[in-house]
Amino acid sequence: MSARVVVGVSGASGAPIAAALVRELAACGAEIHLVVSRAAERTFAQEIGPDALAETARRAFARHAIDDIGAAIASGAFSTGGMIVAPCSMRTLSAIAHSAADNLIVRAADVHLKERRKLILLTRESPLHLGHIRAMAAATEIGAVVMPPAPAYYLKPATLDDMTMQIARRAIDLLGLFAPRAHEWRPDD
Ligand SMILES: Cc1cc2nc3c(=O)[nH]c(=O)nc-3n(C[C@H](O)[C@H](O)[C@H](O)COP(=O)(O)O)c2cc1C
Repeated sequence: MSARVVVGVSGASGAPIAAALVRELAACGAEIHLVVSRAAERTFAQEIGPDALAETARRAFARHAIDDIGAAIASGAFSTGGMIVAPCSMRTLSAIAHSAADNLIVRAADVHLKERRKLILLTRESPLHLGHIRAMAAATEIGAVVMPPAPAYYLKPATLDDMTMQIARRAIDLLGLFAPRAHEWRPDD
């Protein structure tokens, strides 16, 4: 199985999760193909800082432009081990659920679904209206894994970074490509 992983970053709150995900995937030796929406460029700057996106992009093997619908990852012939969208906005979720592939994140996600590869969506919004929930159901029905970035308080994270890292590792573990990285729950801890 390929260690190529596509990471899509959309403009929901949670840029630190995207940064942690890319850091962790790089530590796994993954060939990271990164696509960032315009809204996510803004959340990266707002939630982490002005240089954060460039720093994250440096860890990727390639960063593809959001409008480059002719990029390698837009084709099913380009094999990958899976794709994670983190964070996944309700806009991107809805587009994926309905194959409205008008940008490279949605197109690459659609390709992963049609090729029956893993697609993990770290959907982030709260509270949810029925339209959000229906979009999550529709995405699940066509093969995506919806994984809201919910903190695992039972692991007693000491810092926000610990909590963020655990979420990123959990998403990576869902790909099934690398040795498990997330902390496991042990009742005696
Ligand atoms: C600081 C900030 C936080 C946001 N948080 C969310 C969020 O948690 N969930 C969401 O669906 N949209 C959120 N949005 C709105 C999206 O950025 C907006 O819907 C955008 O059009 C999404 O485009 P994209 O899916 O192409 O990234 C946020 C916007 C900003 C500026």
